[in-house]
Amino acid sequence: MTSTRTSRRGLNRRDFLRLSGLGALGLMAEGALGLSSIATALGSPDAGVVDPDVEINLEAVIAQAPILAGPETQVWRYQAELVKGPADTIQPIPNTYLGPSFLFRPGQNVRINFTNRLNEESIVHWHGLHVPEAADGHPRLVIAPNETYVYEFQVMDRPGMYWYHPHPHGRTGPQAYHGLAGLILISDGSEAQAGLPTGANDLPLVIQDRTFDDQNQLVYSTSMAGFLGDTILVNGQPNASITVTRNAYRLRILNGSNSRIYKLAWSDGTPLTVIGSDGGLLDAPVQRNYVTLAPAERTDLLVDFSQWPAGTTLTLRSLAFSGGGFGGGGGNATLANGAEFAIMDFLISDAATATPTLTPTATVVPTSTPTPTTTPTPVSLPLRSYLPLVSSIGAGAQATASAATSSTDFRADLATPQQATRTFTLYMQFGQWTISGRTFQMEAVAPDETVELGSTEIWEFANQQSGGGGGMAGGMPHPIHIHDLQFRVISRQAPTDATQRANWETVKDGYVDGGWKDTILVMPGERVQVQMTFKDFTGLFLYHCHNLEHEDMGMMRNYRIVPPA
Ligand code: C2O
Ligand code: CU
Ligand code: CU
Repeated sequence: MTSTRTSRRGLNRRDFLRLSGLGALGLMAEGALGLSSIATALGSPDAGVVDPDVEINLEAVIAQAPILAGPETQVWRYQAELVKGPADTIQPIPNTYLGPSFLFRPGQNVRINFTNRLNEESIVHWHGLHVPEAADGHPRLVIAPNETYVYEFQVMDRPGMYWYHPHPHGRTGPQAYHGLAGLILISDGSEAQAGLPTGANDLPLVIQDRTFDDQNQLVYSTSMAGFLGDTILVNGQPNASITVTRNAYRLRILNGSNSRIYKLAWSDGTPLTVIGSDGGLLDAPVQRNYVTLAPAERTDLLVDFSQWPAGTTLTLRSLAFSGGGFGGGGGNATLANGAEFAIMDFLISDAATATPTLTPTATVVPTSTPTPTTTPTPVSLPLRSYLPLVSSIGAGAQATASAATSSTDFRADLATPQQATRTFTLYMQFGQWTISGRTFQMEAVAPDETVELGSTEIWEFANQQSGGGGGMAGGMPHPIHIHDLQFRVISRQAPTDATQRANWETVKDGYVDGGWKDTILVMPGERVQVQMTFKDFTGLFLYHCHNLEHEDMGMMRNYRIVPPA
């Protein structure tokens, strides 16, 4: 992999003018880095004026991976090599089709040379990262097979877990499904000092659902509901289990599924201690009896396994919920969105050190057998000992033990809506999922999708499908994602329809809305308001439903950040 030849593919002259014109303010803010990113994207050979701190060659390839017992599975995967930078920048996840994790430090200047070795167009998006327009992986920037796209950006985000995945229009669902995804960890190196588990006790876990045929090959289909697989994989492995010591662990969980929502809970009803969300650590830990995690959302859990005796097997489960979609999620769903199932086992060991290697068990069966759980009872976790430490690296932390331990329920202060700057409605029209009645157009930006650099706005997303129980009229959950920034949730309004309200009640206590978010679940009938500030970069960015089938079918729009008038 030596080619750093850049590609003009996907950028025409109009793009060039727009990028260099409207992007000017962003370029000033970012200086030479932004300039070089646009110049290299356009294929100017000597435009790379910035010496990056980190340079990575990244390829999307077709490969074989052992997933189930028997024949290997054909997957599409990211592979990477480090050209320049700290040796721990690329962190492979063992025994998986997932791409390697990238470990970045705040402030690093990063160059990634992405080469497409698939048989179709692709482009990579850095989900959650605040990067210039030309580095955001917009679908109009797709490259053809064997072309290379050069990304340059500075790491400007808070420490936390982000991820990367394809973003070609209409093909994001199948490309991600076949294995194209990887994690981005941003660390400022202060975790150990802050009392957070590190090294082998810091476990990134990617949860995905897949369906295999009798030759162990991936089966994909699309529908208005989205895709739901019947086999749950963690870091690419079915029936995953891991041996842990009786110590504190940090579990950083990504819902990397196309459409499935998880309602995460411990099998014995012990509440979860949540310390972080999409955009890094919360101001203070919160406890939840379960955590609702929609596609693309992340949750950061702190768990002290010393509270269970050695020999205990603790299972991370997804609990039952309702309102997951018509017919529980469409014709292909043998495991409905809202079914209860096991996700992975934690085998608690007395050994001083256990090697936390995720291993599949020998027998591979769909993990769909519901096991009733006991009614969760909040117990006292060793939260207090971590609290001052954790809060010291949370922004503006005003953490108190009482605030942390009282947050076991839906936040009452989220019930009061503000005056929204703009409202987007989510509904089906003429057999298509839409945002305010519109579907994706590659270049189009409506007047009400244009925002000013430097402004702070409140966007309201209203899932407006009319009520009425099952069927399409009952609506579907839409995990809404906004590119370029992290936002704050400022209000949620419950559905007014009785059926939708009852469905909402089965997931709402698992919302963790207190931190920085880039994706939020909007249940049928629910209205969610988020507040964001458009900083540093002008240009064309996306907002869309992160149910990847909805996104591919056009439930996605551009918004444009323009210089202030
Ligand atoms: Cu995770 Cu527009 O993407
Ligand atoms: Cu994104
Ligand atoms: Cu959707």
